[in-house]
Parts: sequence; C-alpha cells; structure tokens
Amino acid sequence: MSFLTNKKLVIVGAAGAIGSTMAQLAAVKGLTNNIALYDPYLKGLEGVYEELRHCGFEGVNFTFTDNVEEALTGASFIISSGGAPRKEGMTREDLLKGNAQIAADFGDNVKKYCPNCEHIVVIFNPADVTGLVVLVKSGLKPNQVTTLAGLDSTRLQSELAKYFGIPQYAVSGCATLGGHGEKMVPVTSDVMVMGKPLSKYNIPADKFEEIKQKTIQGGSNIIALRGRSSNLSPAYVAIEMIEAAMGGKKFTLPAGCFVKDGMYGYKNVCMAMKSTIDENGVSYTEANLSADEKKALDASYEHLCKMRDEVIGMGVLPAVADWSKYNKNL
Ligand code: 2OP
Repeated sequence: MSFLTNKKLVIVGAAGAIGSTMAQLAAVKGLTNNIALYDPYLKGLEGVYEELRHCGFEGVNFTFTDNVEEALTGASFIISSGGAPRKEGMTREDLLKGNAQIAADFGDNVKKYCPNCEHIVVIFNPADVTGLVVLVKSGLKPNQVTTLAGLDSTRLQSELAKYFGIPQYAVSGCATLGGHGEKMVPVTSDVMVMGKPLSKYNIPADKFEEIKQKTIQGGSNIIALRGRSSNLSPAYVAIEMIEAAMGGKKFTLPAGCFVKDGMYGYKNVCMAMKSTIDENGVSYTEANLSADEKKALDASYEHLCKMRDEVIGMGVLPAVADWSKYNKNL
C-alpha cells in the first residue's frame, strides 16, 4: 500500500466516535503509515487500537497513548476532536466554557511538544472558538490551523437535492460561511442545480427558508435521530481537510480559518470563508454575496466576536492586543 506521506498524524480524542472513525478513514485512504491515537480515556482508546489492528490494514503502524507528550512529540499533522460532544437540546455554543479550556491546554501542548507541526484541524465545538484558541496558544501560523465547517455546505447540498428530488451530486457550489453554529450563513450565489444556476428555479421564499433552517439544524437533527452527536460526516470532512494539507486532493468546501484583518472589515476571529486547503495550508477569498447574505454574515461575525470576548473574559484566551506575545504570527 502506498501512502501520501510517512509523517506522523495524531488523532486527538481517538477513543470517541469521531476520533475512531477518523483513524479508520485515514488508514482506508492511505494518508500515512504513522497514525498515533491519543485520548485521556485509556481503556476505550485501547479498544479502538485493538479494533483497528483487527482490520488488518497493510503497512499502517498505529500507536496509542494517554500521555500527551508522547502523542504530540514529532507530530506533523493533528486532528482534534478532543472536547465534550453536544447532547440533545444543546447548541454548539453551549459547549463554550469547558471546551475553550481544553483548546487552550491543547494549544499549549502543541507549542511545547510539536512546534513544527504543519497543520491542525480542530473539530470540537464551538469549533470557530476552539480553533481560534488553539491558533493563539500554539504559536502556529494562521494558514496552519483550520476548523470544521464543510459539513454545513454538504448539508445545504443535501437539502437542496432533497427539495428537487434529484441525486445529491447534481447540486454543486454550495457554501455556508461564518460560524459553524446557529448563525451560519448558507450562501447560494454559486449554486448550480443540474447545470443551471439556482436563481433560475424560483424556489418559494418559505421553502427556501425551510431549506436553510434544515441546513443550520443538520447537526441537531442527527442528535435527535441517533440520540448522539454526528460522527460520520465530521470525521469524513476533517480527514479530507488534513489530506489536502498533506498534499493530497485540494479541499474547497469552506473551512474555518483565521481572519486577521480586512476582508469584509472582519478581524481576529476564526470563521468559515470561501477557502482552499492545500499543501501550503489554508487561503481564502471574498465570496459573491447577496445583500441579505452579507447582512447575515455580519451578524454571524458579531456573534463570533461575542463568543471570543467571552472566552477572553473567562481568562482562557488573552486579550487581542496581547496575542502577539503568545504567537508571533498574529
Ligand atoms: C455537527 O455539526 C458535530 O458539529 C458537528 O454535527
């Protein structure tokens, strides 16, 4: 079996549903022969390790540890699902307090044990905020940290395809920007349905609103249906993101990335942008937005600033003016 790279990929939270699915997908896709599983819950972690061995992947060397130093030392790529998951009735934002601290500790550990890490994908919620905390604390460059949001775009694609009664792949160009939370913004300017722009179809306003709401509530609907937070789609999309950072197929769904200053007048947040991940990390450009979409994106940005400032207020994240003391790249 050939691999995209031989560099070390660390899966943080590997005992969990998303983490274990990612480990399996990384092996199936031949991303690397060096997959390190980390989780503080050692018993469950060993179970995942045993199961992965039982798959009999040719050429893959799995390791597992509950020691963070051992896990992160020598890491080139990391995907972290290592926070508390969302339960029924909770928004992603409800997880802010506990998970922000976990993100801060994780960022500190990256700085300590693997400062030469090439790319981190952060997927524990609220991902925009936990990703921001990881970036500030780790000392990595903004193009080296991305957060999960792409599954909102595939949810929009799925809902549009269900509305038209056509295969999901007959809809393209779907994007949701802003936060990966209640205020995400489905953007439809580039959407094509069976080769024609979406605007040619005149979807009634109430139906369109329903499609947007179903997109936004895609994650909570999984919780309602399965009794637990999603694992298949976050795992798959995150693995595609890290694959792109390793030099594999480029990732072109919107990823959460750090917006330093300028674009749309936004700054100092992580949010889903029209972006590309490749071996140089993430880059972003302006999207084509309608006036309503821009207004919604402004509201999403304000919401992210509020959550960021809450985390600063908790003392978990330093004040924006002090970020450069922790991270010279900011
Ligand atoms: C979701 O949207 C877990 O945030 C993830 O399903």
